[in-house]
Amino acid sequence: MSLRICFIASEVAPLAKTGGLADVAGALPRYLHDRGHDVRVFMPLYSSISLGALDPQPVPNVQNVELKLGPHRYSFSLLAATLPGSQTPVMLVHCPAAFDRATLYTNAPDEHLRFLVLQRAVLESCQRLAFAPQIVHCNDWHTGLVPLLLKSLYAWDRLFDEARTVMSIHNIGYQGVFGAGTVYDTGGEIRHLLSPEDLSRGQINWLREGLRHAHRVSTVSPTYAQEIRSPIGSHGLDTTLRARGDDVVGILNGVDYGEWNPATDRYLKHRYSPQDLSGKVATKRSFLDWLNLPLPVTTPMFGIVSRMTAQKGFDLLFDTLPEILAGRDCCLTAVGNGERRYEEFFDDLQQRFPDRVAFHRGYNEELSHLIEAASDIFLMPSMYEPCGLNQMYSLKYGTVPIVRKTGGLADSVQMWDPATRTGTGVVFNDFDPPAMRWALHTALDLFKDQDAWQQMMRNGMAKNFSWDTQGMEYEKMYANLLS
Ligand code: ADP
Ligand code: GLC
Repeated sequence: MSLRICFIASEVAPLAKTGGLADVAGALPRYLHDRGHDVRVFMPLYSSISLGALDPQPVPNVQNVELKLGPHRYSFSLLAATLPGSQTPVMLVHCPAAFDRATLYTNAPDEHLRFLVLQRAVLESCQRLAFAPQIVHCNDWHTGLVPLLLKSLYAWDRLFDEARTVMSIHNIGYQGVFGAGTVYDTGGEIRHLLSPEDLSRGQINWLREGLRHAHRVSTVSPTYAQEIRSPIGSHGLDTTLRARGDDVVGILNGVDYGEWNPATDRYLKHRYSPQDLSGKVATKRSFLDWLNLPLPVTTPMFGIVSRMTAQKGFDLLFDTLPEILAGRDCCLTAVGNGERRYEEFFDDLQQRFPDRVAFHRGYNEELSHLIEAASDIFLMPSMYEPCGLNQMYSLKYGTVPIVRKTGGLADSVQMWDPATRTGTGVVFNDFDPPAMRWALHTALDLFKDQDAWQQMMRNGMAKNFSWDTQGMEYEKMYANLLS
């Protein structure tokens, strides 16, 4: 059955990306489009998006549309294009007053208005296009008010009669919490629909409203779907989630193997596959040379590609990593940016071990692919991880992940078992330095047994997390919602 799907996200790869949400929003709709669904992706037209190759066309009925957000006035126009390398329609909400900023997200006082513009613009556009979505798929807090808007401000419009809403949680640590005064900017009479507890605290929590009002809630791994029902993992939303009972499902993210495959990776000079791993060694050799790390290619290399936030567990590395670098034969390459204390930690590490550590502070697509390919061990000791994509990319690249047993990491990496020679990585449980230390030493010890190591690499490379299987789970959820 072909469905009409309105898919809304604040970032969509390759047009705008700060993390894995963009990867998912760029890949899942492509899958759905290829399966014959009429899916339209809606996102902001940020000023950082280069329009050249995209060649977006103004949508005739949706130009200079006025939006009244409380006392604020905006005007937006819709541009239509297709996601690069596909025929999947992407609808760009052009509103310079909201999206012409230095970064995708800001701490500016009008942050709620920016994403209200997105959400209202999507619904106004559907109306003007006479596009009656059967599924409205919302992602993270930036889209959290859409289910509630459909129940209030847009409830009169028969166009949305069939619409079933899905609220996907990619990261519960970000909720979009604003002062209750901003409720007037949303438009319409919605106070009676809002969480009374939040209102009594003088707040509105966009993600919570999404979780309360969507027909179905999904998150990006089965383990995370369990974790967020408990007070420890939920960042305060467990009661809301438990109240939804079986309406909360966990679907592991897929990997876009068109983008992440060492046999076809456009950033690699020396490509490789499980049948012939020589390209991995050659990649590592030239990467070490390029980084000016004077080391033999046999030196085990740790790799990190990450946003640098507390979520990613880098606090566990503060003591353990310098110890390991001082005491054992190994090296590290990392790319990332974010909180100062982590950036400074990696800067210091590089200064202390100039021959063994290379850190690039920033966001760099090419480096992220090179690190995935050249490293032997990928470090992802997250405090929490809804799904995580880099550990799955690592498996495909024969780069053995060290992960903490949480969220999607627990669902995608299995501990190596020497007795059965099964398993794909090193998995540790406790969020503390001794467990981290154990994992680092264990990986380095295993690396010495190259026979076992190669088996572990091949086990990982044989795993398949493609969207062909994961996308089907979303189709089942949609069908179930509409039945
Ligand atoms: P999260 O969404 O929490 O950041 P994921 O593992 O799901 O974590 O996805 C992160 C995505 O962002 C991956 O595609 C990763 O390669 C990319 N990424 C993260 N940091 C950087 C960086 N500094 N440079 C390039 N790509 C990065
Ligand atoms: C979030 C999570 C990450 C997940 C990604 C895509 O940013 O932190 O674990 O893989 O979204 O769903």
